[in-house]
Amino acid sequence: MRSERPTATWMSAHRGIAVIATFLIAAAPGCKRQSVTQPPAAATYTIGMSQCNLGEPWRVQMNADVAAAAEKHPQIRMVFKDAQNDALRQRGHVEELVSAGVDLILISPKEAQPLTEPVARAMDAGIPVIVLDRRVLGDKYTCFIGADNKLIGRAAGEWIVATLGGAGRVVELKGLMTSTPGQDRHSGFREAIKGSNIEIVFEADMKWLEPDARKEMESALARFADIDLVYAHNDPGAHGAYLAAAAADRADGMKFVGIDALPHEGVMYVKQGILDATFLYPTGGAEAIEAALKILDGQAVPKEITLGSRIFTNDNVADGGEAIQAP
Ligand code: FRU
Repeated sequence: MRSERPTATWMSAHRGIAVIATFLIAAAPGCKRQSVTQPPAAATYTIGMSQCNLGEPWRVQMNADVAAAAEKHPQIRMVFKDAQNDALRQRGHVEELVSAGVDLILISPKEAQPLTEPVARAMDAGIPVIVLDRRVLGDKYTCFIGADNKLIGRAAGEWIVATLGGAGRVVELKGLMTSTPGQDRHSGFREAIKGSNIEIVFEADMKWLEPDARKEMESALARFADIDLVYAHNDPGAHGAYLAAAAADRADGMKFVGIDALPHEGVMYVKQGILDATFLYPTGGAEAIEAALKILDGQAVPKEITLGSRIFTNDNVADGGEAIQAP
């Protein structure tokens, strides 16, 4: 399969060579038997991972987190699929994993609606499914793992109200609104600014993509002479907005807020003074493998595993940010 991780195959092939070599040495005439190497245990479980795209650093990190956690467990073999931001292709990937008879599926779906049915079919075929970060519709899956996007949106709104002193002109650059994090980061934010004098002068769906965010921000800048802050649903979006404002010589005095807080992306932007705040959105990769092992072992896992978040600002970034408290 095209995007299968080569390292597992490579490692088992090389382990195999080592085992054969040990037997050959032991069998060579006149050669004293030195050690007995047991053949390595073959992987017992195959886990298929359907990733909606690998075009953004956060998703590359999610796959790396899954791979790193899986490597610690020789009984697992991972098969990775990249849908390249195409929901139809991702449907096909889930169907392929089901026909291949994998033991468990991990999926981070591009959009809720189109991936609901293939996930339900996998469940019907008796394959447990762990959904990561973006949800499907309904509750036909084994376990959902992700941070509380509504809480993050609300925390962003509260921080923005406090930072702007209760009033200001804000641009909201939304993540893909057919995906649940976009919907929740929007609704949580709007709840938090209710009753303040924050005015949303411009809003657009930048589909999580930095180039789209930059373009939308160029339109906002052309239409509004006065913008105090940009709230983008992810750090690539906030960075795209910053680049547009900087190119128009208007970034000074404008604030930029994002979500994700990868160390080499959002957190670095805060340290560089490009972003004023970013909120941690953990990938859940390690937790997914932990839950997968339990499910494969016949143990119960919670239906929902909610990951925590942190805020990083200029004031606290050197100390590792500050935890967001759930109400
Ligand atoms: C990556 C990404 C992240 C965002 C998440 C939401 O594809 O856009 O930046 O936090 O997806 O699902």
